Amino acid sequence: MYPVSNMTNIAKGLEGVLFTESKLTFINGSEGILTHLGIPIQEWAEKSTFEELSLALLDGELPTAEELAKFDAQLRANRAIPDKLIEEIASFPKNANPMQALRTAVSYLGLFDPQSEDVSQEARREISIRLIAQFATIIAAIARAREGQEIIAPRADLTHAGNFLYMLNGKEPSPEQARLFDIALILHADHGMNASTFTAIATSSTISDMYSCIVSAIGALKGPLHGGANEQVMVMLDEVGTPDKAEAYITKKLDNKEKIMGVGHRVYKYFDPRSRVLRDYAAMVADKEGKSNYYQILETIEKTVVDRIGSKGIYPNVDFYSGTVYSDLGIKKEYFTPIFALARISGWCASVIEYSKDNRLLRPDAVYTGLTDQHYKDLKDRQ
Ligand code: ACO
Repeated sequence: MYPVSNMTNIAKGLEGVLFTESKLTFINGSEGILTHLGIPIQEWAEKSTFEELSLALLDGELPTAEELAKFDAQLRANRAIPDKLIEEIASFPKNANPMQALRTAVSYLGLFDPQSEDVSQEARREISIRLIAQFATIIAAIARAREGQEIIAPRADLTHAGNFLYMLNGKEPSPEQARLFDIALILHADHGMNASTFTAIATSSTISDMYSCIVSAIGALKGPLHGGANEQVMVMLDEVGTPDKAEAYITKKLDNKEKIMGVGHRVYKYFDPRSRVLRDYAAMVADKEGKSNYYQILETIEKTVVDRIGSKGIYPNVDFYSGTVYSDLGIKKEYFTPIFALARISGWCASVIEYSKDNRLLRPDAVYTGLTDQHYKDLKDRQ
């Protein structure tokens, strides 16, 4: 018999397991608090920009005006991607999942970066700046190519959010649209040790290169229990159809023990603060456009879910309202998860840089529950 370790020590899903220290993001799940560098997410959303939050996360401190201007200029100067990559993206199968396309494109991009194998802190930071800038160009190009439209080159005179919407939709967004998208990016930029950030760190802990870390993270974000949930919320809204059918739809799903997308969170056992900010903007847009069906359906779903399973700590998460905001900006649901990545790239890069400062190889363990004292049987002797 092999020695069997204590089964009660298993932390399934690594819930509550502390594996490192971080100065970037604090979350209090029971009270619905989220801060970056100690500053509440609501203040970042109201007063800052995605560019500023990205730099603050990368460097672990609020930048000065001069530092921010330099970083902003670096982002603008690094938006273009290699022609070869544009050709590749244009040739991707039209039915390929956009996250698969993003994963492939970022991996391909790494082949053209002469610094890609440099794992020093300086190189990791420089690559991060390029990745933050180029994610926007890559994701817009993937969407345009999939839709059979011409790929649009980036413009240096627009903000990060404004330029992305321009490259995606083919026309310059209004300042209000660009700001709304900027806020959505801020809300998704970082969220502590979520599955994709943890995956990026796990890869970096082997002293692997930045592109490998980010490609791993994209794979983790792709799943419906993580970044894929916002797309699934829109699928649900289309299934519901009209607001009067929402309560019965949710009740039936809950009776059948099915999961409702966009609600529940491993950490938040109360309202995810990001969902509150997005709800306010979704309401504002819906009011302006004349109360969209989607917003009214979501309001009913939220009420039904909170009444039925709020006592289990199940409340709307960030994905619940983000889809309607994106949809109001003219973005199709297939691109919601890549847009999540467009924001989270900052958190991934910042977390890899922070962890690499005091790296330790991640290597957890499992309790062995398999057979013991066996011997190899020849194929011919097996039934
Ligand atoms: N709909 C209905 N019931 C739910 C939901 C849901 N979305 N989420 C959890 N529950 C129920 C569970 O069935 C369980 O009920 P039980 O105690 O009667 O068995 C109870 O609430 C506790 O749920 P757990 O599964 O233990 O919660 P966990 O922390 O593992 O799940 C998760 C978190 C995976 C996010 C889950 O809530 C879920 O699948 N949500 C839907 C997908 C989603 O929106 N993901 C996005 C997360 S946020 C992000 O990644 C940005």
